[in-house]
Amino acid sequence: MRIFHLSAECYPIAKVGGLADVVGALPKYQTLAGLQAAVVMPFYNRKFVHENVFDVVFQGTTLLGTRRIYFEVLKEQTDKLGFELYLIKIPGLLDRENVYSYPDEREQFLAFQICFLDWINWSGQTPDLVHCHDHHSGLVPFLMYHSNLYRRLAHIPTVFTIHNGQYHGAFGWDNLHYLPEIDFYKTGLLDWNGGINPLAAAVKCCWKFTTVSPSYLHELSISSNGLEYLFYVERDKGVGIINGIDTDVWNAGTDLMLPEHFTAATVAKGKQKNKEILCERFGLAVDKPLISFIGRLVTEKGSDQLPAAIERSIKEHGDKVNFLILGAGDNATEMSLNLLKQLYPQNCNVFIGYDESLAHLIYAGADFLLMPSRVEPCGLNQMYAMRYGTMPMVRSTGGLKDTVIDFGDEGGYGIRFENVSVDDICISITRAVVLYEDTRQIQALRKRMMALDFSWDRSAKEYINLYESLIPKI
Ligand code: ADP
Ligand code: GLC
Repeated sequence: MRIFHLSAECYPIAKVGGLADVVGALPKYQTLAGLQAAVVMPFYNRKFVHENVFDVVFQGTTLLGTRRIYFEVLKEQTDKLGFELYLIKIPGLLDRENVYSYPDEREQFLAFQICFLDWINWSGQTPDLVHCHDHHSGLVPFLMYHSNLYRRLAHIPTVFTIHNGQYHGAFGWDNLHYLPEIDFYKTGLLDWNGGINPLAAAVKCCWKFTTVSPSYLHELSISSNGLEYLFYVERDKGVGIINGIDTDVWNAGTDLMLPEHFTAATVAKGKQKNKEILCERFGLAVDKPLISFIGRLVTEKGSDQLPAAIERSIKEHGDKVNFLILGAGDNATEMSLNLLKQLYPQNCNVFIGYDESLAHLIYAGADFLLMPSRVEPCGLNQMYAMRYGTMPMVRSTGGLKDTVIDFGDEGGYGIRFENVSVDDICISITRAVVLYEDTRQIQALRKRMMALDFSWDRSAKEYINLYESLIPKI
């Protein structure tokens, strides 16, 4: 079975968030299971492309609106990632450093999708299925089924995975001319709320859509930035499949980014050693519970509540708790966190920025990981934390709800709370502080978390079952 995954991000080539981790791992596990899974993404001018060798496997030109563009498809030579990797390069458009936030981002992703289709069409390839991820490849199903140019591909099933339903990639109808040779009677499929909406178009046109957790599938029809009715109407087409984590990358016993390796059997000593190094680096005392946060500082993640909750907790618990934040995002939150760091240097430190190896050290060295997310389609951080024996403190939503059981419930191992509010966060912090005093219980819970199986094996199989249900049997 030959599958193409289309994505804006893929670890380790270009990562902004969890989308990269998923697209860098799922195809690997699918390949191990016997599929021929390939990833196609835009070319980024980054370390990975400079350090690896690529072959040009296709060159062509295509029309982007009225502009003729030249493009190349590059293939990584060794398949060392565990899957085939293809990059679409367009000089001046898809050859930049960052993944998002260019003023012509719309043209970038339109061109990416059109070039992908041109490439497989004109090179005579017929994959068994095309799997698109998020709105950056959301127009592919529409174009495959409703453009005269790609008639040859119109019988191929498409699956669309929603990693984040808040972002739709919508733009105005004045851009319709970018879509090549489409059937104008079908343009309604592109529409949502008076504009072209790639996320909505994908949900309408794909054969099946998936969400990255079962709870999130249900939540989309309650809150999805205006697409609630669409998700309600299309609910039978949706399947919730929880993400896995790449247990080769996230292995405390072998992780090259950790100063001290450990397993479930040696977690007490291993965590302590990593914690010492981490605390020393950030000027925090090592004998107190260390509560951390890693992630984008955006409303979705509830990070705006952190400054007030941290300040109240430091006041409430005196000198009994420490905080360490790693993230970047909204200005106001960054500023409030930096202020806290100045006010309470002994209890709180903040690293504004993106640092992959620091993230690994925090997952290993912290005692707790706080995730007060308003929306969390799956969330990988809580799974990484648990794999490294760190207890997640999560708001009950989306994938957090599907992966974390409160330690007060049978078989539980984490801390859960209901509301994104300073009150709820502070209560969960108090629970963490009290639990930390009980060394035996916390050690037992760490071992329990580390024994949980969040590997891709199960979820990769669920995707394969889904593909098999769609691919016509010969
Ligand atoms: P999202 O994709 O919504 O940001 P996920 O939990 O799915 O959330 O994945 C976030 C990923 O990005 C994790 O691998 C996490 O460790 C990483 N990450 C987020 N912010 C940072 C940061 N500032 N530095 C390093 N890694 C980060
Ligand atoms: C998105 C979601 C996150 C999820 C990730 C990978 O970025 O916000 O919850 O884990 O995609 O699917």
